[in-house]
Amino acid sequence: MKAKALTAVLDIGVMALALTACGGEKPIDVKAIMAQPQAYVGSDTCKMCHLEHYDSWKMTLHSRTLQNAQNNRDAVVVDFDPDKIRKSLGKLGGQLKVPADQIFIPKFEEIRYTIGSQWKQSYIVEKNGSLLVAPVQYNLETHSWSAYHEADWDQRDWSLKCGGCHTTGVDLEKKTFLESAVGCEACHGKGSWHAALPKTAVFEKRQTIVNPAKLTMGVSAQICGSCHNRGTSTKVKEADWPVGYAPGRALEPYYESNVYPEGDVKSYYAKDFIQGHHQQYLDWLQSQHVNEGVTCTSCHYVHQIGLPPTRSQTVGAGSRQCFECHNQLNKTSAHAIHTFANCIGCHMPKIATSAESGAVHSHVFICLKPKDTLKNPKLPNSCQSCHAHKKDDLKKLQEKAFPGSGDLDW
Ligand code: HEC
Ligand code: HEC
Ligand code: HEC
Ligand code: HEC
Ligand code: HEC
Ligand code: HEC
Ligand code: HEC
Ligand code: HEC
Repeated sequence: MKAKALTAVLDIGVMALALTACGGEKPIDVKAIMAQPQAYVGSDTCKMCHLEHYDSWKMTLHSRTLQNAQNNRDAVVVDFDPDKIRKSLGKLGGQLKVPADQIFIPKFEEIRYTIGSQWKQSYIVEKNGSLLVAPVQYNLETHSWSAYHEADWDQRDWSLKCGGCHTTGVDLEKKTFLESAVGCEACHGKGSWHAALPKTAVFEKRQTIVNPAKLTMGVSAQICGSCHNRGTSTKVKEADWPVGYAPGRALEPYYESNVYPEGDVKSYYAKDFIQGHHQQYLDWLQSQHVNEGVTCTSCHYVHQIGLPPTRSQTVGAGSRQCFECHNQLNKTSAHAIHTFANCIGCHMPKIATSAESGAVHSHVFICLKPKDTLKNPKLPNSCQSCHAHKKDDLKKLQEKAFPGSGDLDW
């Protein structure tokens, strides 16, 4: 009896407290907010309450996937001189589908947006009311120009071919996008309900936004996989990105990822290793790390409160990333020979191409040995990035590091 009475008194107390707390504020009409269709609000709205996340996201490449060159001429990372561009293209000779002197080169003033700033840069121009990717591309590492779809560039709608991965909130009918970045909502989903709720409605706040950390591992990684991937839309013909996909959903109904047919020589080396860029997800899917739940965000941050420690958004610098978990290693074969601990040098060789071959790290995490190249000369190995002078002697390199394995079927 006594206990019951006490609970009743406590209940009244709690209710009174709750009433006082809410006294000054209008009750939240969650239903009214959620009766509206969900919509994108843009990262600038998220900034109002999540300044630290916003600030650190601003330091990542995701915040600059597309830059408005009309407002900011500095977005163009090279002296845009048509004569120099044509001269550089001239060196490509026979590789070109259109002669160098006839390839369309936009005037500097015609560039609406730039795409990319780290490996390479493309330029968006407007033609007959459509946004299109101009057929010249600047490669930052080699300071050279290459051609891009020089014969059919004006037939390729930018929203269909690129839009969904380099901007947020693409509307294919209106051919518009809401944010010229991989904004907060590209990974967290449409935020209008969440943003409209008052800060005090913590429970409802959590219910109305996707937190990737609270999803199952596979579904969470598919958020990254919706862009760090290569394939075609299952919903819209000719679209190269997963139209209709939203964070938290399963990716497969929206996207047919490129698989590994032996013949797909453009995207793959014939051993399931990617050859093109933006396919980290496909590499990773084949790795042992998948089975162990080591996912993109085990190694990469997307917004790190405080100043970020590294380039490439890795949690630890270089191979220290690996030591976090692999603190004990077999001291055999290749591990025994080498005094250094460049895990990435061997296990994530730069064999995929962005602007140039050798620009992007493999994410299968397997060390490619000399015998892999001996079996398939098209497939590079991890060793020759350092042992280049041994070019002619792959067999010896293999035998020295892995004694007794001269037999290539080993
Ligand atoms: C009016 C303030 C406000 C705005 C605007 C706002 N948020 Fe929030 N957000 C919050 C509060 C408050 C929480 C709950 C904090 C807690 O869990 O303690 C929250 C939580 C979150 C969470 C974690 C949810 C969870 O389940 O752990 C994410 C992710 C998030 N917000 C993303 C966003 C994004 C993306 C936007 C922009 C579309 C945004 N927020 C706009 C106030 C805001
Ligand atoms: C590239 C994808 C991506 C983008 C872009 C992104 N986030 Fe996140 N966000 C994540 C992931 C993944 C997590 C889960 C944390 C983790 O696993 O590291 C997260 C977690 C959060 C959380 C929960 C608290 C925390 O730190 O774990 C908040 C709040 C949040 N993000 C806000 C934002 C805001 C605001 C923006 C835009 C300025 C933004 N995010 C942009 C992927 C993203
Ligand atoms: C399926 C998603 C997807 C599509 C479609 C896509 N990209 Fe990308 N793109 C990415 C990702 C992810 C990266 C960064 C990772 C990488 O390169 O490995 C990237 C990188 C780039 C870069 C280099 C960025 C830099 O900082 O150097 C350029 C330029 C680029 N893309 C242009 C385009 C153009 C032009 C199109 C359309 C013809 C396009 N992309 C279509 C996902 C995509
Ligand atoms: C909406 C598409 C999209 C999504 C979703 C996305 N990315 Fe990206 N990501 C890109 C593009 C595009 C670039 C290249 C930007 C550029 O260079 O202009 C990029 C670049 C990166 C980079 C390279 C950073 C650097 O400094 O070199 C990393 C790492 C990365 N993304 C990790 C992730 C992770 C982890 C996730 C999931 C939590 C994720 N991305 C989700 C499109 C996306
Ligand atoms: C076990 C750790 C690990 C995992 C898991 C991982 N990455 Fe990486 N990633 C790295 C390291 C290390 C680098 C190279 C950092 C450097 O520049 O030295 C890198 C580089 C990148 C880059 C920059 C381009 C390049 O390869 O040079 C992108 C984009 C990227 N990762 C995306 C992803 C995505 C998307 C996933 C999940 C599908 C993922 N990564 C999973 C460790 C990891
Ligand atoms: C978050 C923890 C974690 C991080 C970070 C991590 N790994 Fe792993 N890795 C694992 C686990 C767990 C396994 C499976 C058990 C084992 O072999 O130790 C594994 C397995 C491996 C394997 C064996 C694959 C096979 O086929 O047997 C290699 C190689 C590997 N990791 C390389 C790396 C490299 C290189 C890095 C740094 C870029 C790295 N790992 C970062 C946890 C991690
Ligand atoms: C000189 C190249 C090289 C370097 C450097 C290297 N590895 Fe390896 N690693 C290999 C090769 C080759 C194998 C496969 C062994 C075999 O097939 O005989 C391997 C196997 C592994 C394995 C699976 C078997 C085992 O030993 O548990 C893990 C995990 C691993 N390496 C992690 C790392 C980490 C972490 C680093 C950095 C400290 C590193 N490796 C540095 C070449 C290298
Ligand atoms: C990051 C650069 C780097 C990579 C990648 C690398 N090595 Fe080495 N390797 C070295 C250096 C430096 C030495 C000298 C010994 C030392 O300081 O560790 C060496 C020594 C050797 C030696 C013994 C000395 C000799 O030349 O006869 C062999 C054999 C060898 N490496 C084979 C390999 C094989 C096989 C691979 C690929 C699985 C590989 N290395 C990958 C840098 C590298």
